[in-house]
Amino acid sequence: MEKKYRVVVAGMGKRGMHHAAAFQANGRFEVVGICDIDQARLDAAAAKLGVAVKGTDAAQVARDLKPDVFCFCTMANVRTPLIRIGIESGARLIAMEKPVALTSAVGFEVKRLVESSGVKVVVSHQHRYGSHYRAVKDVIASGALGRIHTVYGTASGWMMHMISHLIDYMRWYNGEAAAEWVMAQAAGRGKMADAHPSPDYIGGFIQFANGVRGIVECGAGAPDVPEVDYWWRKCRIGAQGTDGYAEVLTGGGWRAVTKNGVQSGEGCMNYDLDMPPYIQQMADWLDDDARVHECNFDSAYQGLEIMMALCRSVAGRGQVALPLTAGADELEMLRTSLPEQKVLLSNPMNAKEYLS
Ligand SMILES: NC(=O)c1ccc[n+]([C@@H]2O[C@H](COP(=O)([O-])OP(=O)(O)OC[C@H]3O[C@@H](n4cnc5c(N)ncnc54)[C@H](O)[C@@H]3O)[C@@H](O)[C@H]2O)c1
Repeated sequence: MEKKYRVVVAGMGKRGMHHAAAFQANGRFEVVGICDIDQARLDAAAAKLGVAVKGTDAAQVARDLKPDVFCFCTMANVRTPLIRIGIESGARLIAMEKPVALTSAVGFEVKRLVESSGVKVVVSHQHRYGSHYRAVKDVIASGALGRIHTVYGTASGWMMHMISHLIDYMRWYNGEAAAEWVMAQAAGRGKMADAHPSPDYIGGFIQFANGVRGIVECGAGAPDVPEVDYWWRKCRIGAQGTDGYAEVLTGGGWRAVTKNGVQSGEGCMNYDLDMPPYIQQMADWLDDDARVHECNFDSAYQGLEIMMALCRSVAGRGQVALPLTAGADELEMLRTSLPEQKVLLSNPMNAKEYLS
């Protein structure tokens, strides 16, 4: 019989519950313990999941249970302490939520801990498993777009929620290429006070090492995606090549226009469909070092550096070279540099989020 991997999940909010349920639904995993600092939330989660071991101290639960997989789904201001807990528990794989960190200073520390311990880490950019996201990847891989010269991503939601996803899928469509430099501009301070602190609007350019140009926009001024009704799924990610283009809409399927004609298909972001393959690839990677998870830390970390370099460009102006050579507090840089002027909208539907 194949080995069953024992899992502890910390942070039983929306995403913690998604992860715990998906681990339980996969025969290769068993959720042996859960944690949350909020006792009422913890009790409700334990009853719903039927997990016997629970605790408000993640370090204690992980130390006691010594899981194979330590998963944490806390908000983005809680990262290094839980990475440390995962490593110290002896887990072979840590599964964490995006974004990797809120600043490059924390990102550098997370990377140092991950590299010095040798633990496998995956970061939840699970939209990759959507059939419509994969259809676009397949068109690109088939060569039907010719030589890719541009990848792009837009979202109506704000940066700390959305740009990590956009950059991850843009890099995926661009063969996981590294970035050489970025340049960006931003407006609006309203969402700097949010739990996902962000400028209300940011737009930037990315120069990839393979010569491909990335264009990314997030927030109040990003273009509408009129094909999609649900506001959070107004995201468009795609690639243009010498022979055509292909793009996915998070809430509205995909399309490609190539020399062979027009293709399109359905598809909508759906946690119930995206989580199972994301979880299965963790078992595959634990079973076999060669089967590296698509959402591995190295890839996500490159995305974090791109996001942080975009913020540094906003604060300091001009181009920012990658990789970054030292950590910094980009949120503080934005707080001191973003103009007071209210953000201007691209779409009246954005007013409810950005002008309240
Ligand atoms: N991948 C995706 O599609 C996706 C979607 C939504 C959110 N997210 C990300 O997931 C993360 C969590 O988001 P959420 O909506 O689930 O948040 P949430 O607020 O619903 O849940 C977070 C939970 O963590 C708990 N917590 C905080 N500190 C803790 C600690 N030290 N030990 C144990 N528990 C602790 C909180 O009490 C809370 O219950 C964020 O980083 C967010 O950006 C990702």
